[in-house]
Amino acid sequence: MYNITLIPGDGIGPEVISSAKKIIEATGLKVNWDIVNAGINVYKKKGVLIPNKVFESIEKNKIALKGPITTPIGSGFRSINVMLRKKYDLFSNVRIVKTIPGVNSPFKNVNLIIFRENTEGLYSGIEKKISDNSAEAIKIITKNASLKIAKTAFNYAKKNNKNKITVVHKANIMKLTDGLFLDCVRKISKEYPDIKLQEIIVDNMCMQLVMNPSQFEIIVTTNLYGDILSDLCAGLVGGLGLVPGANIGNNMAIFEAVHGSAPDIAGKNIANPTAIILSGAMMLNYIGETKKSNLILDGVSKTISEGKYITRDLGGSSSTTEMTEAIIENMLTI
Ligand code: NAI
Ligand code: MG
Repeated sequence: MYNITLIPGDGIGPEVISSAKKIIEATGLKVNWDIVNAGINVYKKKGVLIPNKVFESIEKNKIALKGPITTPIGSGFRSINVMLRKKYDLFSNVRIVKTIPGVNSPFKNVNLIIFRENTEGLYSGIEKKISDNSAEAIKIITKNASLKIAKTAFNYAKKNNKNKITVVHKANIMKLTDGLFLDCVRKISKEYPDIKLQEIIVDNMCMQLVMNPSQFEIIVTTNLYGDILSDLCAGLVGGLGLVPGANIGNNMAIFEAVHGSAPDIAGKNIANPTAIILSGAMMLNYIGETKKSNLILDGVSKTISEGKYITRDLGGSSSTTEMTEAIIENMLTI
């Protein structure tokens, strides 16, 4: 029996989290879900964005599946997500971007994984108004965090027999900050002589990705570039509804989709549940339930390639719940 924290979140969060929960249960995994609420609805009712119960649950279970959260302006938080990542030193943000056959997209063989440093960079949130006409933000890069994310990416490459890692930076301009990040990645790469390190400047990387994404396998980068590249990469495989993610530290992990709370489609039962379902599959992999994780991947792939029960963003007309039921059906017959 696994104890897992479940945070439904805001907007489409509760709809897609409910799908992921059903799918995980359909694998036969025995889970004791600790359902705790955080986000804008809690804030409206109780005046706090994250009640203590949420922290306690995450700290006890060390593993969480989380829906997207809208951080209201004026709540004193810049972003709940950024705060959780920093508080628990969930230093690697891992996003899997993979072509799912049947999805209408110009590329057929995208299979890459992004390791984004998750605790510093321009996300440090140190911003200052200088005058009515100017403001500044401070970008923090440390050796410690840079070495950790580099090590995580190289370890992953080694474990999965990959022979190339691409580091994305702008050290030609930001010589001290991105320069330090790049130096750290180079340092770690020396410990892995069988893995080639490719260095690319972020603007060139954007062009390379939209022209020929299959040339990349593993990307390691700083916080902001990783955020931007993740959405770009989601676009290469059919959109935000398909890309899962995880925030992983040394002994704790929070799994969540790349997308946000999508207020434009919330409450209509039309959101694509795939991204959060696949985040759930990443979670099962993380706890060692590889077979059950693969069952989810197969169920999702089969449902999407059949194309009968898919949501609008994928060109179909099914609801979130219909697509979820179809995935379960497929999982049970695989
Ligand atoms: P968003 O990802 O919520 O939406 C961008 C576009 O993609 C929208 O048109 C939306 O309808 C579509 N989309 C997103 N997920 C989809 C899905 N599963 N199925 C179908 N279409 C989908 O990004 P946006 O609008 O910039 O942010 C909305 C809110 O979400 C903001 O308050 C933001 O702060 C928050 N957010 C939270 C995140 C988190 O909790 N990890 C991550 C990103 C944003
Ligand atoms: Mg983002």
